[in-house]
Amino acid sequence: MKITVIGAGNVGATTAQLLANAELANEIILIDILEGIPEGKALDMYESMPVLESDSRIIGTNDYALTANSDIVIQTAGLARKPGMTRDDLLIINANIVNTCISNAVKYSPNAFYIVVSNPLDVMTYLALKATGLPRNKVVGMAGILDTSRYVSFISMELGVSMQDIRGMILGGHGDTMVPLPRFTTVSGIPVTDLIPKERMDAICARAAGGGGEIVKYLKTGSAYYAPSASVVQMVESIVKDQRRILPCSVLLEGEYGVNDAVVGVPVVLGKNCVEKIIELKLNDEETGLFMNSVNHVKETIAEALEIIAKNNA
Ligand code: NAI
Ligand code: 2OP
Repeated sequence: MKITVIGAGNVGATTAQLLANAELANEIILIDILEGIPEGKALDMYESMPVLESDSRIIGTNDYALTANSDIVIQTAGLARKPGMTRDDLLIINANIVNTCISNAVKYSPNAFYIVVSNPLDVMTYLALKATGLPRNKVVGMAGILDTSRYVSFISMELGVSMQDIRGMILGGHGDTMVPLPRFTTVSGIPVTDLIPKERMDAICARAAGGGGEIVKYLKTGSAYYAPSASVVQMVESIVKDQRRILPCSVLLEGEYGVNDAVVGVPVVLGKNCVEKIIELKLNDEETGLFMNSVNHVKETIAEALEIIAKNNA
């Protein structure tokens, strides 16, 4: 197993480290546009492997040739939010970065699975899909796992019970319009709606939807990376070990949920072929309305991104 992580910043470096610690790949390539940073961080990680008793080899580089024949490529390069910015404010810069990185990577790894992290996530995953020309099961975005993990953390705090007993689901785009689903959330099999009153659940859903912004406010110079990196690793583990976990991920919809030509977060089965299956939940009218609102927002942003790419190519 060879995994390339594009972007050696907070998310990229933390992801590489977690992958190596868990020995999910024999070889991990950490690539960035900055000189020295990927080499230095990768060597530092490599030197921690004897202590951690892992045989993963981590190599840092600026050269895409070293990424050749990767099985999985993780795209994290791009600008992160600062206070006052929305994920959509990153659109112009990150559209160009993602397009460049993915076009370079796919030349050397045409058979890899691509996991996109750069924001705005659903739009960047759509661009990556176009840049690779790969089928939709091979290009997938990470956001729903992170959003759901935040939501589950807040439910655990509210109830004072183990996070491990809580199962939840957040659908839609990775932004203010995301759709937490209390009706599909259980605590050891008990509907969460039986345990937490509606007004408290509404506050938890709102906090989850603003969870990224809450961290940006504290950090001031960037955005979250520990929970995002752990979420990427959960996707990789499900693929590498063919666990077939059902996880909310961003994928291109072709008729599912009545949506066409938009990448948006829905539950998928992740296994040895990457996205093995898209699961269609039976949403009620209110949930459908919120989900379609989120889809429409993503679609508008995809249209903007395509204009930016077309202008740059003109
Ligand atoms: P960071 O600023 O720490 O790292 C970004 C890295 O990308 C830098 O090292 C930079 O040199 C590199 N880079 C920029 N242009 C490049 C290029 N053309 N080629 C190669 N490398 C390039 O940012 P951080 O915190 O790692 O976040 C990365 C991205 O992930 C951001 O867009 C952020 O919004 C997004 N993100 C998405 C999440 C999600 O849930 N999908 C969660 C957390 C972050
Ligand atoms: C987050 O939700 C920045 O999108 C990232 O933390």
